[in-house]
Amino acid sequence: MDKIVVEGGARLVGKIPISGAKNAALPLLAAALLPSGASTFKNVPDLADVKTMSKLLRMLGWTVDADKRSLVIAPPTGKKKPKLEAPYELVKTMRASVLVLGPLVARYGRARVSMPGGCAIGARPIDQHLKGLQAMGAKVTLDHGYVDVEAKRLKGATIVLDMPTVTGCENLIMAAALAKGRTVLENAAREPEVEELAVVLNKMGAKIQGAGTPIITIDGVDELLPIEHAIIPDRIEAGTFAVAAAMTRGDVLLEGARPEHLDAVIAKLRAAGVQVAAEAGGVRVRGGGDLQPVDIVTQPHPGFPTDMQAQFMVMACMAKGQSIIKEMIFENRYMHVPELGRMGADVQISGRTAVVRGNSKLNGASVMATDLRASASLVLAGLVAAGKTEVLRVYHLDRGYESIEKKLRGVGAKIKRAKDA
Ligand code: EPU
Repeated sequence: MDKIVVEGGARLVGKIPISGAKNAALPLLAAALLPSGASTFKNVPDLADVKTMSKLLRMLGWTVDADKRSLVIAPPTGKKKPKLEAPYELVKTMRASVLVLGPLVARYGRARVSMPGGCAIGARPIDQHLKGLQAMGAKVTLDHGYVDVEAKRLKGATIVLDMPTVTGCENLIMAAALAKGRTVLENAAREPEVEELAVVLNKMGAKIQGAGTPIITIDGVDELLPIEHAIIPDRIEAGTFAVAAAMTRGDVLLEGARPEHLDAVIAKLRAAGVQVAAEAGGVRVRGGGDLQPVDIVTQPHPGFPTDMQAQFMVMACMAKGQSIIKEMIFENRYMHVPELGRMGADVQISGRTAVVRGNSKLNGASVMATDLRASASLVLAGLVAAGKTEVLRVYHLDRGYESIEKKLRGVGAKIKRAKDA
């Protein structure tokens, strides 16, 4: 298995190209199940999760042809019938597999998807996805760890979500796109990735209004058509490299990053004393003086993203004072804390609150984490730690960061991928 080896202390200077967004790509690949012909996506990130989603689409009977950063996804033809099941083997490696549920039921009248279990960061149920489908007239049955969903044709409904779930909204938008009549999703997720899905479905001929606001209205249509689309840049990858630039007192242009997707992150970087400017080519981040402590509460978009919490905690460790972090989305998203502790960080957890004392002098160590963003935070810690840091279990990073070591090396980091003996 691979590991990432970082020698701390280098100042990062230069440009980092930002890849297409993982969390936009995954629902878009699932949306390719809806039209009657082949859709093409460009700027697709080269990530393990995208490969897993492609594998799932192939298992369902679609062809997925990859060429550099493009994917062409085509439905089964001739006598080939789609297989309407997402098996446990895939769902257990990637929860986002559940995103095929909405499109399959909408287009084929049924689907069978393994129930995702809890995962490293929390219980993460899918009750809201199922509640919404039921409201649209689907019969939902649980059977030996699988959920069977059936509806001859889904019917529009008004659905008030208990919380603005991202993939839940995405599943229901895709389901409603081909339903009969109007669906109104209230308390909807406002993430840019939800908006991106609506843009793509509308290109396909769907009638969706209000994506990016808490109320999304979907007027169902009878058919959707294939499209071509370039995926938005990854705001979390951009945010992660922004923190890297800030912590190393560097000067980095995040090429292609969209400042309007990063408002909460940019506000907190500025509060920490980091200079952030929107430029024609992307977002430029300059660190310099001492980092100031910042308090953070993770919230649904447009609040501060939970996917940036671990990275900001590392920055808070280096700040001149105490920061308070509250993780309000996932109940168990502090797995990086004990590992950061081994590198010399001073962080106390009580329930959902972390008190980060700051002024830490981090020391390199062998560390590992059990989720993607926690692993990214350990790479960031390695960039500023004294000596060598080895981040094990690199497969977590490969799920969501394309060639993280190459991108960081390109701006001067001393970082490489190596085989773990
Ligand atoms: N929730 C429920 N019931 C549901 C759905 C969600 O209780 O039916 C709860 C969750 O347990 C959680 C909260 O609602 O406490 C919000 O979860 P959400 O459903 O929004 O998360 P998700 O859709 O499973 C996506 C991203 C995550 C990101 C979260 C929050 C994708 C593929 N995943 O997950 O990304 O952290 O939204 O923004 O879009 C990552 O990229 O590292 C990652 C974990």
